[in-house]
Amino acid sequence: MSVKGYENEIYALQTRHTSYIIRVGEDRIPENVYWGKRIDRIEDFAGEASPAPVNMQAPHCLREECASFGGMRFKESSMKVCFADGVRDFRIGRVYVETEENRLELVLEDECYPFRVRLCYEVFEEEDVIKKWRIVENTGEAPVVLERIFSAQFGLPGTGYESLNYNGRWGMEFQAVSEKITSGKKVYESFHGLTAHGNNPVFIVHKGLEEPFRENQGEVWFGSLEYSGNFKTIVEAVDAGFLNIVIGINDTDFAWTLKSGESFEAPAVYAGYTDGGLEDMSHRMHRFCRRHLMPSGLADKPLPVLYNSWYSTAFDVKCEEQIALAEKAARLGVELFVVDDGWFVGREHDRAGLGDWYVDRKKFPQGLKPLTEAVRGLGMRFGLWIEPEMVNPESRLYRLHPDWIYRYQTREVLMGRNQYILDMSRQEVLEYLAECLDTLLSENDISYIKWDMNRYASEMASGGLPAEEWKSLWHRHSLGVQWLINTLREKHPEVEFEACAAGGGRVDYGAMRRFDEYWPSDNTDPLDRLFIQENYSHLYPVKYMRAWLTDDFGMDGRKIPLSFAMHSAMCGSLGIGTDLNRTSEEKREEIKGYVETYKRIRNTVQLGELYRLRSLKNSDIQCVQYVGDGQSAVFVFLDHERYGDPLQSITLRGLKEDSLYRFVLDDREIVKSGAYLMQAGIGLRLCGDYDSRLLILEEINA
Ligand code: DGJ
Repeated sequence: MSVKGYENEIYALQTRHTSYIIRVGEDRIPENVYWGKRIDRIEDFAGEASPAPVNMQAPHCLREECASFGGMRFKESSMKVCFADGVRDFRIGRVYVETEENRLELVLEDECYPFRVRLCYEVFEEEDVIKKWRIVENTGEAPVVLERIFSAQFGLPGTGYESLNYNGRWGMEFQAVSEKITSGKKVYESFHGLTAHGNNPVFIVHKGLEEPFRENQGEVWFGSLEYSGNFKTIVEAVDAGFLNIVIGINDTDFAWTLKSGESFEAPAVYAGYTDGGLEDMSHRMHRFCRRHLMPSGLADKPLPVLYNSWYSTAFDVKCEEQIALAEKAARLGVELFVVDDGWFVGREHDRAGLGDWYVDRKKFPQGLKPLTEAVRGLGMRFGLWIEPEMVNPESRLYRLHPDWIYRYQTREVLMGRNQYILDMSRQEVLEYLAECLDTLLSENDISYIKWDMNRYASEMASGGLPAEEWKSLWHRHSLGVQWLINTLREKHPEVEFEACAAGGGRVDYGAMRRFDEYWPSDNTDPLDRLFIQENYSHLYPVKYMRAWLTDDFGMDGRKIPLSFAMHSAMCGSLGIGTDLNRTSEEKREEIKGYVETYKRIRNTVQLGELYRLRSLKNSDIQCVQYVGDGQSAVFVFLDHERYGDPLQSITLRGLKEDSLYRFVLDDREIVKSGAYLMQAGIGLRLCGDYDSRLLILEEINA
């Protein structure tokens, strides 16, 4: 039993190492009285209300599980409702509690309005994760408007917290930024129509007035929202002496009308506590994602090495040229050949074609078959790129249905990357896309889809809904995307789906629920990528992180040796994007060698435990270690040598102290014990610019 109740007052969510304790006192307000290292004797919490500073009103200074706007509370709420008569606060009249093996539900009923909130909890005991979400129900006749319906609220006692989130933009995703929250509040959000490239729908906090976040020490509280649309996370230092955290669907330009008998379910938040620093947070969440979040078909299998055409041929996709690329890719050991953008009718450039998901006969006179057969014949699987939510004005779809986009009728529609957003709240739009893409998948031998999304949303207005409901469109868009991907997955369970949104615009647990893998950034510069990958891996598993080798490394125009570039890409789920038709035979042979090595370690890299040993942010080298069954892989990167000192020493983690490990370092075979490697460490020589090493440690007699 991981959910325990005591005397109708205390409810404990117990995982292997943590306890989350909720108290429902005489005031009927559920409050969190403890979240931390496991405490077994839950009766100790009985009668222990949160201490309130003198002269402070009660609800304001409680660490409430669901503070609803109104009443004597002035901290950020996690819900705001407006009843038909204009009353805007929700007051708890009765509380029902339902407990099961690993579930808890606190049902809060309003004092006089027929309206209730179900606070739902589920415990993942083994992974040390709790799930929190909520459902609101209008059980009366009159409509109720939800103006804010976040998924969860958390409260941590005391002051002096530090909060970590990400900042960034296209090509510069996942720049970790941590800030002290000593007064006021910090808001992380998106109202771009999807998660976007800036902040991420998560919270990561620790008590950090003096100490920075540490990799393998210190308490950390964290949570991640299963949602791919507009989100808001607020981390607030409340004057009553605690940290208030709310997270959920963004309430900016949001309103949802609940008609009589209707309910609304807010997406889930997965949260946890550790005293083992960021590293242990990652281990817990990576494990949790693989076991409970990722689509089950591929969750515990390593991903194939893929080739993607985008950086080689862009929109200029031709059947014969792709076959030539495929032949060379196969010789490298590639297992999945993907044609990116440019294969469909009219797609000569980014100003035309989106929406018409039919093979361009000018580029593929006999359809895709000659290419898919060639790819199969070469022993690979075949994949295609799509961007279902978009339409170019220059397309058949837009000519036929100019009303199928979000727009204000009185204004010129704004464009981003020369495209409009399809109105995914309309069932006819969803059905068109489902049919078109189903036909594409049924008529062709396609076993992988890369689902892209290349513009942010604006002008959320729909001809299919009355104007007073337009504020619901942001969320309806997300529901439409969910419906479409679920429909396609159900019809084609064997197809592997990758998510992408101009690189890292849709990295979140909502996408992870439906996609097998992710393309984190269009920036393929191997050095920039080390930073992006390091921070991405805080809450997202390595296997969910595609990384490719490309020719010109995109953004920075740097010249980086192949070894460093390959090692950087091998830190994730490896892909190749180099123009193989223009790559020398010698270089292709070299790449082939790295692909072979990668296959030797990919189970460890994709499914093992990740240790971020050193970071170029605060050290001379970057060092990433993966520990799997009987094997460990260690990547070490030097960007430039400092002051003529090539010697580096690294101590490893996660090995078995008493086991012996064999590895080759600079052509020398070495055998050391786990204890030695973790305490004394390994000495390495890395010189000049962009030097790197991969050490593969095999456990002897594992
Ligand atoms: C943006 C993606 O991030 C790229 O990988 C590529 O697929 C292009 N779109 C294609 O238009």
